[in-house]
Formats: sequence, C-alpha cells, structure tokens
Amino acid sequence: MIVIGGSSSENLANSVANQLSLTLAKAEIKRFPDGEKYLRVLNEVKDEHVVVIQSMHHTPDDFLFEYLLLVDTLKDLGAKKVTSFIPYFAYARQDERFKPGEALSFKTVSKLIEAVGTDEIYTIDMHQHRVLSSSDVFRIPSRNLSAMPLLANYVRKEGKLRDPLVIGPDSEAEQWAKLAAETLGTDYDVFEKKRFAADKVEVRPKRANAKGRDILIVDDIISTGGTIIEASKILLSQGAKHIEVACTHPILATDALNRIRAAGVLNVIGTDTVPGPISYVSVAPLIAEHIKKTVS
Ligand code: R5P
Repeated sequence: MIVIGGSSSENLANSVANQLSLTLAKAEIKRFPDGEKYLRVLNEVKDEHVVVIQSMHHTPDDFLFEYLLLVDTLKDLGAKKVTSFIPYFAYARQDERFKPGEALSFKTVSKLIEAVGTDEIYTIDMHQHRVLSSSDVFRIPSRNLSAMPLLANYVRKEGKLRDPLVIGPDSEAEQWAKLAAETLGTDYDVFEKKRFAADKVEVRPKRANAKGRDILIVDDIISTGGTIIEASKILLSQGAKHIEVACTHPILATDALNRIRAAGVLNVIGTDTVPGPISYVSVAPLIAEHIKKTVS
C-alpha cells in the first residue's frame, strides 16, 4: 500500500504515511500557461493499493478536478485499488433543490468521484443534514468519520474550560455535541437555527441555560462565522463565563476569525482538514487508524 496526497493535503498525506511507515508517492502538479492543470504521477503504482488524500477546501473546483485527474491516472497506470480520504468534502451542503432548477451539486460531485474509479471513500464530518448516511449518496463503499473526539481531547488537554456545557448551534450539530460531551464526560444541548442567506442566520436556544458555565460550541464548518457569533451572543447574554469553539473544517471565509474573537470567544480550534491559522488538531491519527483497522 502507498499513500499520495493531492496539493490540498500534502502535509496531511505525509503525516499519515509517516505514522503507518508507508511510502509517500509524489505527483507533479502544475498549470499550463493557459490555466489548464498538468498532473504526472512520479511513482510506480501498478498493482498497488493506493490511498489518496485530497481535501476540497477554499478552491473546491480546483481540488476536485485535480482529484479526478489523479485517481483516473492512478487507475489508468494499473493501480489495483484506490481508497480515498476526502477530509473536507465540498458541495455537500447543496444536497437538495431548494429553488426550482438548482443543481444537485452533492450528487453530481459524488458521480464524478465514482466515475474515475474510486473504489471506496472516507470523509470526515461531511455535512449530512438532509442526507442521513454517506451511503445514500455514494454507490461505492463509503464512511463518514468524526474528528470530534480528537477536538474534545485537545480542549481537555488545553484545560481552559471547567466542566463545560457543550453546545451544538443547530439540530444537525447534535451528533457532534453528543460525541464531544461523551469524550469530555459532560452535558450538551443544541440550538435551533434558521438561515436566511449564506451570511445571515438566526439561532435560538431550546433548553440550554449557560449562566455561570464554561461553554464549548462545536460544529462541522465555520464559514462566515455567522452561526458561531449568533450562538455566542445568546450564551454570553445568558451569563456564560468562557466560550471556546471547536470545528472540524475551519474554512474561515473573509474575516470570520476576527469577528468570532470580537464576539467574545476565548479560543477557536480547528483541524487540518482545512489547513490554516487555527488548525491545531491533526486528523492524521484518525485517517491512519482507519487505514490500519478497516482497509484491506
Ligand atoms: C451548516 O448547517 C453547518 O453545519 C455550519 O453551521 C455552517 O456551515 C456554518 O456556516 P457559517 O460559519 O457561515 O455560519
């Protein structure tokens, strides 16, 4: 078995290969002067089981297309099996036709991934709101892993919060709030959220009373930061002491991080599914563990 990372996840692929003492294969990836992509696999892959790691953050079209070129090339060069880890899976939020005529992007992207010969796919905290399981979308074997236990363990080790109440800012986040609370041995609650536009949300508490409590808000994605800011405002107005935020995919569009800090959040933690300024937690051990346990 060998590991190869696309250009969105080179460091992550390197860590996974190191943790499993596997060869890290290389690809030369560049652009032609007209903007088209060029890709060349530099290792022998014939009859190999190849683990491909490629996130789809920030420039999702670019990284998706690179993924398609990479896997199609690996298969064409005779790779025996391709197991893919797409730590941040873009386009999963467009899982429904909200207005007539809209593209079902989630479905289109999954079809493309299958069409190039991906044999099995792992994602991490993929947005699954209306889609309940990754097997509702993929016809190939698929599994959605969670980075929440890794994030919660990091929060515990840092020790900035005392007996925190874990908050999921919307109903979908209940699964992550539950996992984080179990890891920390504490209680959790979820808010209700209404989204009016990509950058406008309203959240409301259901039962949670944050008075005098330290709070850990958990979510899959921080994009504009609107969800976290609205939830933090409510928690602080209820009398929360300290608020930390942990998310798997710190997309952090525009000035989200500054706005979240300005809203009174003590600390914001993310993983390297989206490498950036708050990627304190690596998902490499999670990927390595699953390669060891389940990939044959
Ligand atoms: C959506 O429901 C997701 O779980 C996140 O809550 C959302 O993507 C966060 O987006 P934003 O930071 O723009 O509020």
